[in-house]
Order: sequence, then C-alpha cells, then structure tokens
Amino acid sequence: MSDVSGRFVVVAVAVVAVSLVAAAAHDYGDALSKSLLYFEAQRSGRLPYNQRVRWRGHSGLTDGLEQGVDLVGGYYDAGDHVKFGLPMAFTITMLSWGVLEYGDEIAAAGELGHALHAIKWGTDYFIKAHTHPDVLWTQVGDGDSDHYCWQRPEDMTTSRRAYKVDADNPGSEVAAETAAAMAAASIVFRRAGDAHYSHLLLHHAQQLFEFGDKYRGRYDASVRVVKSYYPSASGYKDELLWAALWLHRASGGRRYLDYAVSNADDFGGTGWAVSEFSWDIKYPGLQILASKLLLEEKHLSDEQRAVLEKYRSKAEFYVCSCMDKNPGGTDNNAGRTPAGLIFIRPWNNLQYVSNAAFLLNVYSDLLAGLGQRLRCGEAGEAAGAGDVLAFAKSQADYILGSNPMNTSYLVGYGERYPRRVHHRAASSASYQHDKAFIGCLQGFDSWYSAHQENPFDLVGAVVGGPNAKDVFTDHRGAYMQTEACTYNTAPMVGVFSKLKELERRRRREEAPPSSSPVADDL
Ligand SMILES: *[C@@H]1O[C@H](CO)[C@@H](O)[C@H](O)[C@H]1NC(C)=O
Repeated sequence: MSDVSGRFVVVAVAVVAVSLVAAAAHDYGDALSKSLLYFEAQRSGRLPYNQRVRWRGHSGLTDGLEQGVDLVGGYYDAGDHVKFGLPMAFTITMLSWGVLEYGDEIAAAGELGHALHAIKWGTDYFIKAHTHPDVLWTQVGDGDSDHYCWQRPEDMTTSRRAYKVDADNPGSEVAAETAAAMAAASIVFRRAGDAHYSHLLLHHAQQLFEFGDKYRGRYDASVRVVKSYYPSASGYKDELLWAALWLHRASGGRRYLDYAVSNADDFGGTGWAVSEFSWDIKYPGLQILASKLLLEEKHLSDEQRAVLEKYRSKAEFYVCSCMDKNPGGTDNNAGRTPAGLIFIRPWNNLQYVSNAAFLLNVYSDLLAGLGQRLRCGEAGEAAGAGDVLAFAKSQADYILGSNPMNTSYLVGYGERYPRRVHHRAASSASYQHDKAFIGCLQGFDSWYSAHQENPFDLVGAVVGGPNAKDVFTDHRGAYMQTEACTYNTAPMVGVFSKLKELERRRRREEAPPSSSPVADDL
C-alpha cells in the first residue's frame, strides 16, 4: 500500500467523477465542517482552551478514581454519559479510515486539524485505558443507573464505576477493535508527521491484538453491564481479522497478513455474506479492506491472492446488497424505504446507511483502481465504479435533506433538521450559562418532557433517522429516531470530503473555459 498506488486510485476516480450527472444540491464542505464539530460536543473530561462547542463544560473528572486508574477523557457514545469502549473504538477506526482514504480532500477543505483532534481525543483515552499489556478498561458508568437520570454531563451524580477486561475476564471484541483503532490512527499520525505518537499507538495496538487473540472470549460475558446496550452478536472473530488487517497496514508486518489469510475460513472472513456493517459486525469492512490489498500489495503469493479474492466476493455481496442488485430478492439484499434509503432496522437505522455510504465510496475507488466492474452473482447485474459512487452519494444526499420529509438528518445543516435530539446536554440549560445543579429526576421534568425545542443544536450529529416509511418524528422520546451516536457521524467525515471534491471537479468541468480558475487546479 505505497503512496504511489494511493495516488493511482485518486487519478482513476477523477474519470469516474465526470460521469456523475446528478445535480449539485448540497454544500458538502459545510456538512464536513459540521460533522467534525459534533465530536467536540461528545467530549468527556477536561475540555481544552480551543473547544469550539462552548455550551459544554468539563465532566467525568473523577472517572476511574474508584479503581485507582485515570480514565478522564474519551467520548460519550450518544445522548447519555456512559463511556462504552467498543463503539468508541469503532468510531475512531472509522474516523481514521476516512482520513486515510480522503485526507487530501479533508486538508483541502481546511479540516484536517479538526479531524486529527477528533481522532486524538479517542486515542489519548485508549492509551490511558490500556494500563497493562493484558488489561483494557472498557467502560465507565453503566447504562441502567445512567438511564435513570436526565442530567447534564457536568452535573452527573450517577455511578462512574469502571470495568475492565483482562486475562481472566477476556474481551476479544473490544481489545481487537481498540487495536484496530490505534493501528489505523498510527498511520494517520505517521502521515501527519508525528512519528513519536504514531509509534506509541502502534505499540499499544500490537499488544492489544496479542491480548485479544491469546485470551479469547466474548467481552459481553466478562463485562455483563454492557449486555443490554452493546452486546456482541457476531462474536469476536470479525474484530480479530479486522485488527490483523489494520495492523498489517500500520506495520507492514507479514505475520498480520498471514493471520488474516490463514484464519480467513475459520473466522468467517470468507464465509460471512452480510448486508450490515456496524460497531458490532465488521465483516463487510474487513472484506473490503482485504480486497484493497489486491490492488495495493505488490508481492502476493498465489494462495494469498486466492484467499483475498474470496474475501472480495463477500465484499461484493455487501455492495450489491446495499444496491439491491444481488440475485435472490429480499433474502439477499438490504431493505429499502419507499424513497430508497437503505433500511436495516428501526432503531438508529442511519448508522447502517452512513457506514454503507463510506464503504461504497471506498469500493468504488477500488473498482476504478482495478479498472473493473462490480459483479453481483453469476447471473446478477453488474455496475460500474460510477454507479456505486452515485448510489453512495444518493444515501448521503438523503441524509442531508433530499428525502420526503425535506429534513436534514445531519443536525444544524440546512433549514430543516431535528430540533429535539435525544441528548441530555443539548436538551438542557448550558452549564456554562447556568451552573445551578439539575438533579437526576428534575431533568426529566424540566427538560426531557418539555415540548420546546432543545436550547442547543447538536451540530453535526447524524440522528437515528426516519422509519421504514421515510417518516421522522422530532420528539426527544422517539429515541430510536432522534438519538445520535458518534459512530453515525464518523464515516460521514470521509464521505462528505470525497463528495465535496467531486463537486468541485464537476463544477470545473461545467464551467466555461474562459472562467476556469487555473489556481484551483490540483
Ligand atoms: C418537500 O419539498 C417538495 C418540493 O419542494 C414539496 O413538494 C413537498 O411537499 C415537501 N414535503 C414536505 C413534507 O415538506
């Protein structure tokens, strides 16, 4: 995966971009800036001087104290104040992947610094949480006591007990996902010129992978309080393959590639054909990551190439499923709303959409790089790289307001967007303006149940989104639709930056030659 091959992909995509005919309707640069702002609203810990979301204050300053470990920092996952390790790590993996694929576009938009800060807020926390090679603190607070209150994070009175996985209480999903996040981030910071931090992250990533692989076990069996919130449906084998592929990228180590090849069948990497990519189910992501090696890796044995092709056939199942092109009807394809939004399930459906939009962008680049078309089954349809990209764009555009409700599901973007996001801090008076304590249940009476709009827009948050019929209810109690999560927005950072660049090129193609600004050239 040299920089040379990376550049080749970019050049090939430029050709695809020209064939996109959809009209420009959205300001992707604005969406990109806003999406990065959201991560500042989700910060736990001591906020820095350059914090831009000013209605938030310091919080969780004694996290870990009871257990004698410093767990101050990191991110709240959604509208509540538990710090859940698995989705937090997945968020950082996806932010990092976005920067790795579209870093030039993010930099051109002037947002690279913000993107790096968003990643580092997570990785700094993971470094603290990884206190020993075989110990990872994976959660602070618990969902049951947390959900009993509606309080600002600055006022929290609920349990901040911390939970860990170790050799006796293994947690392979969370150890491996944190390894993936730190490995991906180590490449980001190496490219950004911070060799020291990059090495540090890689070192932690390697130890965490060894830990997760050596002491195999489901994390929700060890940390039972996570069971009702982020249980692992797919087990940990997907995370182990995913982490190995990221470590191969970050370190160049052949042994990680060997791991992903030799365990491909046993761990389901070349077996699982699914329509969902999420904080839980990593198969489509790792299948696409493995497929990219067919283009990027110069020295593959015949056996490695054959296994990577098997990964790729499952990656194509996912892409075809999202595009409703697999033979076999609804059994083999993701659901859709009447207006064409991918629909997997009613609770926080947009997470699956934003993840799909990202993966399809990446897969479109790969097809363009390989000079090949998508193949959907033996007798199925084929599609070009431009078709895959156009479909991904349609899903992003739906999120931004091209939908039957004319509502943007990216908060703060456009004229119409959710005003009653299920989010404690945004729905209450700001601690910065009003420090009078708001009690646990008082928050439900004064803020949660009030009909009025939230006092603060949770700018950049992607909410759960509409139901199966494209209908959205802007009500704090409709948490399946109005709650936002960090892992909904994370993949959109890469998607928006890519679409912004495509728009810029499209406009340049369409502009009359005399007015074509030369300085705007790449
Ligand atoms: C959305 O916008 C279209 C076109 O302007 C309009 O016809 C439609 O009635 C709008 N729908 C809603 C729910 O506002």
